[in-house]
Amino acid sequence: MQKKILEYLRKEQEYVSGDQLSHKLGMTRQALWKHIQELRDSGYEIVAVPHLGYRLESAPDRLFAAEIISGLKTKFIGRKIYYYDTISSTMDVAVELGMKSAVDGALIVAEAQTKGRGRLGRIWFSPKYKGIYLSIILRPKILPNQASLLTLLAAVSVCEAVKDVCNLELQIKWPNDLLIKNKKIGGILTELNAEIDKVNFIVIGLGLNVNNDLKSLISQATSLKEENKEAVSRIKLLQEILLRTEDNYLLLQNQGQRIFLEKWRQYSVTLGKRVKVYCQKKHIEGDAVDIDSDGGLLVRRDTGVIEKVLSGDVVHCR
Ligand code: BTN
Repeated sequence: MQKKILEYLRKEQEYVSGDQLSHKLGMTRQALWKHIQELRDSGYEIVAVPHLGYRLESAPDRLFAAEIISGLKTKFIGRKIYYYDTISSTMDVAVELGMKSAVDGALIVAEAQTKGRGRLGRIWFSPKYKGIYLSIILRPKILPNQASLLTLLAAVSVCEAVKDVCNLELQIKWPNDLLIKNKKIGGILTELNAEIDKVNFIVIGLGLNVNNDLKSLISQATSLKEENKEAVSRIKLLQEILLRTEDNYLLLQNQGQRIFLEKWRQYSVTLGKRVKVYCQKKHIEGDAVDIDSDGGLLVRRDTGVIEKVLSGDVVHCR
């Protein structure tokens, strides 16, 4: 019901009388008042003026489903939303929902995570209301060995969205780190549920430092607020991330990976660098020359041999 009240107030933009609103929504004036109070408690600024009625002044920067939906331009990504104030990890919820046949494009979003995780067992620090912590369930028609393409796709989509909303240029360190001026600002975690030749679903997880203050971050990290010197609307940025992800995903499904891999190369900070890639018990050292059509990193060793790396931890040497 609160969603309906907000929709109505947003549509009207001006004062709406209590009589009109309660009549329209089929509730008593008392019930309406109670809902308005609850909305105010959630951070919505709703003014009430005798003889004029109610007007929505401002909405809080909360990632409530109704806020995300209002103004969302996607067709299917983020059309079904699971919102949590605090959760262990959006990945856990997404994997569980994926197994229960949640729809393609379902979004799991949280204001805070108590056990946010990154790649290689690392912790993802997820303070409340500061960042964007989300997981998207996708059911792409690709082979399991192409799953890492989705990590690259998500990274490109976040770079495009940040450029659009904040006018900041992010860079991608293969495969999943999002950097700005060599400091980490976000990361992508992709988890796969598949059979030998069929992907059941993929969960793309994104953690992005948005309005974190510098003092709360480790020295090699930063946030969009810190770089932009002003707070960023998480809701607007999230909507743009979903839209860019959907556009790139449809591009991948309909036209193959060539176009977005080309975009990835533009944002890459790894290509052209001397790298050491730590994978399982060995490491490969050489020059990062390109990525291949599955998203693997191509490293030319000093012997001239080119090795393809599908996962690992990259250190840029120079
Ligand atoms: C990394 O840089 O290693 C990837 C970090 C991914 C963090 C996000 S936050 C939302 C989602 N839930 C998690 O527990 N992890 C991902």
